[in-house]
Amino acid sequence: MNINEIIKAKRDQKELTTEQINFFIHEYSLGNIPDYQASSLLMAIYLNGMSEQEILDLTVAMVKSGEVVDLSDIPGIKVDKHSTGGIGDKVTMVVMPLVASCGVPVAKMSGRGLGYTQGTIDKLDSIPGFRTNLDMDEFIRNVKRIGISIMGQSENIAIADKKLYALRDVTGTVESIPLIASSIMSKKIASGADKILLEVTYGSGAFMENEIRARRLAQTMVNIGNMVGKETIAVLTNMNQPLGRFVGNSLETKEAIDTLAGRGEKDVVNVCLLLGAYMLKLAGHGESITTNMKLLQSKIDSGEGLAKFKEFVSRQWGESRVVDESELLVKAKYKLPVNSIVNGYVSEIETKNIGQAVVNLGGGRLKKEDEVDYYVGVEVMKKIGDKVSMGEPIMYIYANDETKGLMQVETLRSSFKFSNEPVEKSKEILDIID
Ligand code: URA
Repeated sequence: MNINEIIKAKRDQKELTTEQINFFIHEYSLGNIPDYQASSLLMAIYLNGMSEQEILDLTVAMVKSGEVVDLSDIPGIKVDKHSTGGIGDKVTMVVMPLVASCGVPVAKMSGRGLGYTQGTIDKLDSIPGFRTNLDMDEFIRNVKRIGISIMGQSENIAIADKKLYALRDVTGTVESIPLIASSIMSKKIASGADKILLEVTYGSGAFMENEIRARRLAQTMVNIGNMVGKETIAVLTNMNQPLGRFVGNSLETKEAIDTLAGRGEKDVVNVCLLLGAYMLKLAGHGESITTNMKLLQSKIDSGEGLAKFKEFVSRQWGESRVVDESELLVKAKYKLPVNSIVNGYVSEIETKNIGQAVVNLGGGRLKKEDEVDYYVGVEVMKKIGDKVSMGEPIMYIYANDETKGLMQVETLRSSFKFSNEPVEKSKEILDIID
């Protein structure tokens, strides 16, 4: 077998065999296939797509290219949650302690932010003292002791995916559903959970701008999970506007704490309760999604979810005082208003621009090695459908460098579009795919 034959087969729209896919991933991981041949194959996949069997084979081959985490020491069904990314998406920080407070073990490996989104690990790292660089023993010990732990994703899982993703990034082959689905699912499967809940975002602040493609991605990932024997459900969520009120690491952590304390924005609460309810269902709890949502709401009302978050913060060496006084996480030196220059109703938000503004303020990474300023961010005062008067703040910028802050004002202002006629508010949840 040789790579040239495999490239030609895919170029000619033939279905690759399991052996051909295994050969490609194995030899590429070892450095025996050069990047120019791998990119040629990726482009052929991008253009001609893959069958369900090919996507499954590619995923499994990438899982086998690295280590597979063994969570079998932790009793109970372990459910992982993954989001395809969004702006202001603090859902993991709310859902995880709520689910853990219902007695379902939460052992979560999470990523750092890259590009215009921020990752859960960076958000948690904004809590003074908090450690996410746990080793596997400490991680598993924490879950067994208090029911919840979150650590940074191991560098050793799905090694082929890491190499291929870097290559796709520079060869115009990122936006392929078979390649995205196998990339995400290989990491989820290798992370060791028994079942997987996916939050697939769509809209102006998401990787998938269009609803049809988001639906196809979700269905492809659900099929992969189910075919490898890990029941998978996807919830399609709307990212045509930021989720909740704050965007930026420490500000989102503050909002997650406030949500657990019963002071959450309606859209954040709705998404968290629904995702949490599906996590409980996957873990074999509850009679229905409605019952599970009520149970999770009761964990907010009773303070048990917040208490679990506080226990989790202490256990991972963080200053748990911030859980009682979330204002301690608002530390930026400058709070600058972005005022509307028109009257009208918000009709559209170019949501990625808000994520990008936070990166420009220093709150995200352009390269993996970049340092992050945890405390900068944006507070979103108006959402789609809201009425706005001229001179009213539509956003506030939280900056540590006034010049950098002022430089974001115009971009942020122009990311809002207005209509003279009333505009319908948008829904957070589009669909459930299982
Ligand atoms: N996230 C991933 O992990 N992989 C992709 O291909 C795209 C987004």
